[in-house]
This record gives sequence, structure tokens and C-alpha cells, in this order.
Amino acid sequence: MTPTRFPQSGLAPTALYEEMEAARANDVDWRRGRVALYVHYAGEDVLEVAKEAYRRFFSENGLGLKAFPSLRKFEEDIIAWTADLLGAGPDATGVVTSGGTESIFLAMKTARDWARVERPQVKQPEVVAPVSAHPAFDKAAHYLCMRVRRIPVGADFRADVPAMAAAITPDTVMLVGSAPSFPYGVIEGIPALGALARERGLWLHVDACVGGFLAPFVRRLGYPIPPFDFSVQGVRSMSADLHKYGFTAKGASVLLLAEQSLRPFLTFEFDNWPRGKYAVATFAGSRPGGAIAAAWAVMRYLGVEGYLRLAKSIMETRDRLVREIGAIPGLYIVGAPDLSVLGVGGRGLDIFAVAEELGRRGWFVSTMTDPPGIHLGMLTLAHVAHAGEYVRDLAASAEAVRAQNLQARSREASYGV
Ligand SMILES: Cc1ncc(COP(=O)(O)O)c(C=O)c1O
Repeated sequence: MTPTRFPQSGLAPTALYEEMEAARANDVDWRRGRVALYVHYAGEDVLEVAKEAYRRFFSENGLGLKAFPSLRKFEEDIIAWTADLLGAGPDATGVVTSGGTESIFLAMKTARDWARVERPQVKQPEVVAPVSAHPAFDKAAHYLCMRVRRIPVGADFRADVPAMAAAITPDTVMLVGSAPSFPYGVIEGIPALGALARERGLWLHVDACVGGFLAPFVRRLGYPIPPFDFSVQGVRSMSADLHKYGFTAKGASVLLLAEQSLRPFLTFEFDNWPRGKYAVATFAGSRPGGAIAAAWAVMRYLGVEGYLRLAKSIMETRDRLVREIGAIPGLYIVGAPDLSVLGVGGRGLDIFAVAEELGRRGWFVSTMTDPPGIHLGMLTLAHVAHAGEYVRDLAASAEAVRAQNLQARSREASYGV
């Protein structure tokens, strides 16, 4: 920490904004597609709608839905629209959370408390997940005194369902499948996981944080998207991030539960203090009204037609990248990604050295460890116009590594550090 004192006097807005702009001088240029992670861009029009809606409800608080029926309506619409999109029945229920991590946390808390009633013999509740599941499951397990068993994936990088079945113990309460998994971009065999969950009386959570607002549209475009949502029997909860492919402001995700009867296991209620009953469904207390309003506004602005248009553009860019990267000597696409998350491996080339070369050419490069690769986290509209430049620089980087037999200085991969 740099020791600076709390500013004594205030700063006029003009000088203030100048200082803020100066602070971002070295931020990655996401508008020019230089990073395939963290920012989900859907064009200036969508951004403006999200910002304006956020600004209008900037001060309102999602903790006080009685005081703000507007936010209640927005949240109810978001839940109903998402349930419709993800094949949930009329009895489904849900909540708008602050992000994928909170949606996953709440799914695990709901499953844990459900198991306390339904499976009282469970001592230390466990979750069985593919190794590719997001770290949020372990983070939540840490807070909730649960345990995650991570099981190696199959040769196609999808959940190995027989291996997951073999890992179930008397303490298992939940199975996890991703749609898609972040490292590999593949959608698991959710029907097989659903059948296993039903047979063993377990809770199946589908983590569609990445794919929830993309896969249904990609399927409508004619791509072969396997069943992954509530249309699969056995799915009890799903997480789907509005702030990823919902293209809204950060701080918005949906957790859906298949049935209203599960809601009491989600909600936290407390009455033992002098201020009356406190009952919330989220981990957060106060919730930004702006994030809920912006999500509603973007969904309403885009509609199915707008999301289809964006999905088409993103998938065409994905197809182009798969084709052109696959043709670069020494590089290959990891597995057969279903959506817009791509891993790029190296054959006879140090792929981490390629990543470093690409970084030197002005790209913010993420890597993965198994298999070693460059990770194109999530493609959005920011990448459409720059895909050609990316492929050119990637090819030049691979060529430089081969010609000079370069070795990487670091083999670390990180995300969110
Ligand atoms: C598959 C998957 N699940 C969950 C998350 C966590 O989402 P968040 O960063 O919004 O908490 C991510 C983030 O990238 C993800 O890729």
C-alpha cells in the first residue's frame, strides 16, 4: 500500500475526471479487442442503454423492494424471462445476484440446507464436480463448510460422468456440470448428469454463468447445442450471468431454482435483534438498484432478436478464429468448444513463449495450464473487427518462437489475480 493521506480538500469535477482518465492510461484497450476476458461488449448502443438505466436507478437499493416496486418489477421480469429462456417451468423461482460467484454460492447454500432436511444422515456435505468447474465452487465450499471433489474430465474435456458417479459418497449432496466450462468452452453431458442425480437423489447444479444468455441463441442459429437447461430432468438450479453474455453492467447474475418449494432453503431469515425481521435471498444485503435496472433495460432493449444478432456475430468470429488459428503451423484449438471460449495449444512450440510474443505485440494474453495454452476467454463484439489482426499477430508470434527457438520466461497462468 502506498501511504497517502485522506485528501484534505475536495477536487473539482473537471480536475477529478482528468485524474481518473490519467489513471487508466495503462489499462488494456478492450474496445480494440485486446483482451478476451473481463469485458462483455455488445456495441455502443447497448452500452448507452445500460449506462442510462444504471444512472437512473443509481441511488435505489435492491434490499428495499417494498420501497422500490420498480426494482421488484425489474427483478421479477428478469427472473421470468431467464426462466423462459432456460426451459424452467412455471413453478421456478430465482434471484438477481451480484455475479456468477454469488449465484454459485447461493446454489450451494440452498443445496446444503435442502440436504439438511432431505438427507439428515449427511455429515460433511460434498459436491462432485468436473475439474474444469469454476473456482467459485471451492470458494463457496470454503465459506459453507462443504467439500468439493474435483474429478478429471474425459478425453473430450467434458465431465466424465462414470468417474463422477464413482466419486459419490454418502456425504455427496450436489453434482455440478458447466455450460460451458471456462477452461475448455465445452458444455457437459447434462442429460447423463441429470440421470445420475435422479438415480442417486442428488442436487444437480448447471453452471451456465458463461452460456446462459448465449447458448439458447446460438442453438436458434442452428449450431448443435446439446440439452443443458431445465428441460433436462434432474436439474435443480442454474446460474446464468447477466454481466457476461447478457451484456449488462457488472454486478448482475441470475440464480434459478427449479421449484418454489426450494426457496426457503435459499432465503436467510433473522429476527433476534431490536430492528425486526430481516429476510433476504442474496448473500449481499444492499444491492445496487442500477445493476438490476440496467439488466432489465438491456434485456428489454435487445429482446430475442437483438441477442440473436449479437450471437450470430460472435459465433461467426469464433468460427473464423477456429479456422484460421487451426491453420497456423504449430497451433491447434483445444477440444471442440461449443461456444465462444477457445483454448489454443502448441505442437512442437513453446506456447507460453508464443503468449509472451503476442503480449509484446500489444495483446493482453491469458494462458491455461492443462493442456498448456493461450486462453481466449470470452469473445464479444469487441473482437469482431480485430480478429484478423489477432490471427496475424498470433501467426507472427508462433513464427518468431519457431525461428528463434524462444523459451518462455514464465509458465504461470492466472485469472482474477
Ligand atoms: C463458468 C463460470 N462460472 C462462474 C464464473 C464466476 O463468475 P463471476 O466472475 O461473475 O463471479 C465464471 C467467470 O468467468 C465462469 O466462467
